[in-house]
Amino acid sequence: DFLIGTAVAGGGHHLEQDYPDPFTSDRKYRRILAQQFSSVSPENQMKWEYIHPEQDRYDFGMADAIVDFAERNGQAVRGHTLLWHSQNPAWLEEGDFSEEELRAILHDHITTVVGRYAGRIQQWDVANEIFDDQGNLRTEDNIWIRELGPDVIADAFRWAHEADPEAELFFNDYNVEGINAKSDAYYDLIQDLLAQGVPVHGFSTQGHLSTRYGFPGDLEDNLRRFDELGLATAVTELDVRMDLPESGEPTEAQLEQQADYYQQALEACLAVEGCDSFTIWGFTDKYSWVPVFFEGEGSATVMTEDFVRKPAFHALRDTL
Ligand code: XIL
Repeated sequence: DFLIGTAVAGGGHHLEQDYPDPFTSDRKYRRILAQQFSSVSPENQMKWEYIHPEQDRYDFGMADAIVDFAERNGQAVRGHTLLWHSQNPAWLEEGDFSEEELRAILHDHITTVVGRYAGRIQQWDVANEIFDDQGNLRTEDNIWIRELGPDVIADAFRWAHEADPEAELFFNDYNVEGINAKSDAYYDLIQDLLAQGVPVHGFSTQGHLSTRYGFPGDLEDNLRRFDELGLATAVTELDVRMDLPESGEPTEAQLEQQADYYQQALEACLAVEGCDSFTIWGFTDKYSWVPVFFEGEGSATVMTEDFVRKPAFHALRDTL
């Protein structure tokens, strides 16, 4: 029952120039995607700016294609994401809506998107990155929390649950691998919500790691404390970036260290009973978001740009 997943590069955002997109056009990419993974997560295609590009128009094309692909290949799907401060369309962020209108927009979106895939999505990242690294709610940059107040978070979970009672509903964030102010904030919030009967089912840590900062050795302990609240846990976006030497090629030692991080992350998840979904954020450097977002860093995935397996690939395989 343990699922190994990857993000699916459906094009867009950091691959903006990439037409047609890798998922549709790169046959080798598709073959590995079908063969090596038991779960997939659309990297961008279920985000608001893609799936809801205009107020009165949804675009399900790529999301449908990814869900269909997963079904044909017997793969689970992680839906990503419904309430986030980032990658929202301009019509939403720059629109002039009353509170009542905004609530209706969010309700309509969640009902429509979750409802469309009801029964076909195993886990939904309902709320993504709602806290900053100090553990404060994003009351400035998250439009929903800013305009509607923190109670909208519980509503999002309730609406998602109504639209698909089978889906496991998650909080998802980065820098919450270890026990720290940010993961503590989730721990407190989730206990509150569970006490109120809000349908929260899971807590997941993205796992965007860098060899600059070391491996979060308390990952297992952190996952376990959420497990003990009765939640599912997951690693949802693992990658391990590194500072590239001038040649642009990582050294053997760097690749070994990276493999060790991947392995430790997988071991932590395997050690926690309710952690049965482990997803890497892309499997080839060819399409990784890392070099675009982190200057000087790269080589973050388990395969080179030519799909050659790195030590990290073998480390994962050997650990399973
Ligand atoms: C990233 C994608 O990989 C990029 O293609 C996009 O340009 C920006 O977003 N946390 C998340 C993911 O929850 O949605 C982000 O994905 C990476 C960080």
